[in-house]
Amino acid sequence: MESGKDSLWKAKYLLDIDDIDKQHQQYFSICSKIASLCDLARAGKKITIGQLLISIFELRSYAFKHFITEEALLAKYNYPKAFAHIELHDLYLEKIRSYTKQIKAHHKKTKVSADHDFVREAEKISKFAIGWWSKHILEDDKEYAEFIEKVGREQARDERHFGVKEE
Ligand SMILES: [Fe+2]
Ligand SMILES: [Fe+2]
Repeated sequence: MESGKDSLWKAKYLLDIDDIDKQHQQYFSICSKIASLCDLARAGKKITIGQLLISIFELRSYAFKHFITEEALLAKYNYPKAFAHIELHDLYLEKIRSYTKQIKAHHKKTKVSADHDFVREAEKISKFAIGWWSKHILEDDKEYAEFIEKVGREQARDERHFGVKEE
């Protein structure tokens, strides 16, 4: 049994934007928590549905928090692909919505303890989330981070230039 899943987050996800990196890291710890609870349930420990649902709901609610931060950043820097990026976030939320519906169906059938089917559904949603965040950060978020870095470098250069011109 492997219950410590802190390693789900990897250094390669760093974008060098503090607030965003912290939120991405937090997201993986939500996924780690679900994975650990599922491992414990599979090992025969009594895990309640409530324990799992706290983190499962966070896969949705924490995404809102993160998307607010990230999308404000894209708008601030007038990122050319901002609208396409926002659409990717919407697709994630739609997918989470359909997984949540499946979990809701199991929730009706299950009692207080998470049974085998409930654990399987929880694992499905958490695996989807891990895969989605990993790919999205490495491909799409990295792209805007590079753009912002470039704009920041140009601004800093202009400011230095402006500084030289001043008496
Ligand atoms: Fe994003
Ligand atoms: Fe992100």
